Amino acid sequence: MIIAEAGQSWLIFWGHFHPMLVHLPIGMFFIAGILHFFSKQASDLPEIIIRILIWTTAFSILSATMGWGLAQSGEYDSDALQIHQWLGIITCVLAAGLTFAMRAGLASRPTNLLFIISLSFLTITGHYGGNLTHGSDYLTASLPASVRSMLGMKEVEVENSVVEKIANLPEAIVYTQLVKPVLTQKCTSCHNDQKQKGKLRLDTPEFILQGGEDGPILVAGKPLDSELIKRLLLDASDEHHMPPKGKTPLTDNEIALLHWWVQHGADFTKKVAQLPVDDKIKPVLASYANGETSSESPVFKKSVGAPDESDLARIRTHGILANPIAKDHALIEVNAINAPQVTSKELSDLRAIQAQIIRLKLGNTRMSGDFLKEIGAMPLLILLDLNHTKIADNDLDNLKNLAYLESLNLVGTPISDRGLAHLAKIKSLKRVYLWQTRVTEKGVSQLQKMRPDLAIQSGFKGRWPLEVDSTKLTLAK
Ligand code: HEC
Repeated sequence: MIIAEAGQSWLIFWGHFHPMLVHLPIGMFFIAGILHFFSKQASDLPEIIIRILIWTTAFSILSATMGWGLAQSGEYDSDALQIHQWLGIITCVLAAGLTFAMRAGLASRPTNLLFIISLSFLTITGHYGGNLTHGSDYLTASLPASVRSMLGMKEVEVENSVVEKIANLPEAIVYTQLVKPVLTQKCTSCHNDQKQKGKLRLDTPEFILQGGEDGPILVAGKPLDSELIKRLLLDASDEHHMPPKGKTPLTDNEIALLHWWVQHGADFTKKVAQLPVDDKIKPVLASYANGETSSESPVFKKSVGAPDESDLARIRTHGILANPIAKDHALIEVNAINAPQVTSKELSDLRAIQAQIIRLKLGNTRMSGDFLKEIGAMPLLILLDLNHTKIADNDLDNLKNLAYLESLNLVGTPISDRGLAHLAKIKSLKRVYLWQTRVTEKGVSQLQKMRPDLAIQSGFKGRWPLEVDSTKLTLAK
């Protein structure tokens, strides 16, 4: 059993070389074709073409066996995979056949025909293979919207949490109108009909109920026993966190929404009015009722010039993600999740795009408190995450002029009650996260008195608004 398992993982390891190696025979086959059709037929050319074809055949067969190994990983949709596999095998056979035919001195007309057929199969196989790795929309996704609509293609979904306003919320179907859009925006790119990471599809109720390689992912009524929810609540650095690193994570509201849905039965047909509404989910639902999300911030109505690509590129050399909040958008989200080593020195490159940054996530970096001066000069900042950084109470004074700051994360910083006084001055602030700091209950209640409108998350461990300690979650494997 163990041996079989090890064999299986070696096979998949081998298979992972397929997408890389496969380009070698493709290139060689085309070179052979180009020489055959477009070069002056020097006397020794056919001999050279045959040599190239022999190597093409050898490498085609090698990469086909790798492809077969990769198929065993179960990461791919079986229908599309079957087509690609058989086309690949036919292409190998054609390469071999062409080699033999040319060696046997086949006449030029049938050779030409065989070449054309072979290269056509090669192209179609490659196209199906590309669809398997990148999704069938990969090539056309970047076409201008007008061209896409002319070609009858659907609109590309923007990879960002733009919440649709729902007109009649109580009558909305929870799954269809609230849950599914989240899955579509954040999950189905890897869990769909083309690609099934973890052998899981999240695009239809049937597949969601079916679960993944470790079995069902939903336990109705028990969100914390449901793989689907647990994966969202894990620490963002956990390798099993969903979506994986580098992809836009779910917002707290989205997590709360999915949690609420599972907690009340993970039903695919019930309406909002049919599920119990508690204090935690109320503000989340409210944000859907009037389309009020961070996208409602006045910042989104401002016209801002696009940042300079070279500035973004320089920031990215430090491993910092700096991306438009939506395609072709001038506003930028900056996230240093993959760059914990950066200090204020590297971060000073952000000055070049300070006018465009609206979300800044610098948690766990080696930034020092004096960098808050620079942050204080980012006029459109809506969200600031400084968790587990070494900032001091007085540094927070630099934030007082941020006119649009709504959300501030100070988790795990050495902030004390003295720092809270500075927070009270940030008029736009709606939420502040303070757990694992040195603030006291007294300090928090004082701040709350000064700013009754402020949502202060202080005492509990875990993600707001679910008081879940993610370190206690155990996964199926
Ligand atoms: C970039 C690709 C990608 C995205 C996007 C993604 N996943 Fe995954 N998912 C994976 C991979 C790879 C695995 C298998 C490895 C693992 O189990 O961690 C997986 C596994 C899972 C599993 C476990 C299945 C099982 O039975 O083992 C669940 C549940 C899951 N994902 C849920 C989600 C949810 C919910 C989202 C959206 C919030 C999401 N995934 C987005 C790549 C992705």
